[in-house]
Amino acid sequence: MLDVKILTIFPGIFDSFITFGNPAQAIEKHLMGFEAVDLRQFASDRHRTTDDYPYGGGRGMIMKPEPIVKGIRALKAGVDKPRVILTTPQARLFDQSKAEELSQLSSMIIVCGRYEGIDERVRCYVDEEISVGDYVLSGGETAAMVIIDAVSRLVPGVMGSDSHIGGDSFYDGLLEYPQYTRPRVFEGMSVPWVLLEGHHEKIRTWRLKQSLARTFYRRPDLLETKILNEREAEVLGEIRTEMNAGNMEKNHECA
Ligand code: ADE
Repeated sequence: MLDVKILTIFPGIFDSFITFGNPAQAIEKHLMGFEAVDLRQFASDRHRTTDDYPYGGGRGMIMKPEPIVKGIRALKAGVDKPRVILTTPQARLFDQSKAEELSQLSSMIIVCGRYEGIDERVRCYVDEEISVGDYVLSGGETAAMVIIDAVSRLVPGVMGSDSHIGGDSFYDGLLEYPQYTRPRVFEGMSVPWVLLEGHHEKIRTWRLKQSLARTFYRRPDLLETKILNEREAEVLGEIRTEMNAGNMEKNHECA
């Protein structure tokens, strides 16, 4: 059971998010708890202020430390080993292995930044900072949704069978092979023959080669860190040879 709490000035953003897909499944099956908590309730002044002008001048508003730290303390109270996460573009990038790690936790508190930034001292009260990509969002709420979505499908029991997860893009550090469904021919484009023959070993080999080729052409950076087994290294060698012969990653011309 993973308990997720979000500290945000816009808790309503999450209302519809948690009623769809894997987060909804996880909550329905009581494998994930979810609560979006309004940061303003921890502001002490009459206007429930959560931001203020930056010292030293400059653009925009900065989130004040007191409501956030008060909120973190309130959400941590009585919780066993909570992991406090701050969403910010100034952090290591979120990836599948981080999602796997977070899916094993029992409690996660996500603090969503907003405005032009957050008082630097807040960083002393969080365990970890996560960015979902090298771009700037208007707030950490959408980043939190990305994290929760990716994590919720990995919480044991959420996806019915673990076999789905085995084929995921990034599981094992490779992009997923191409998938097809009916019809066999769509606007002149056929499903690759190998998938129609029912020869499972051939299908496995084709899929491995497609996965490696996709990764090689689209995300070569992933291959720099992946340790290939003997079979994978051999197939990658074939792909390189085919590339030198002018064959690129394509299963069919687009109609
Ligand atoms: N807040 C604003 N931009 C962000 C990003 N890229 N990742 C996480 N939190 C953010």
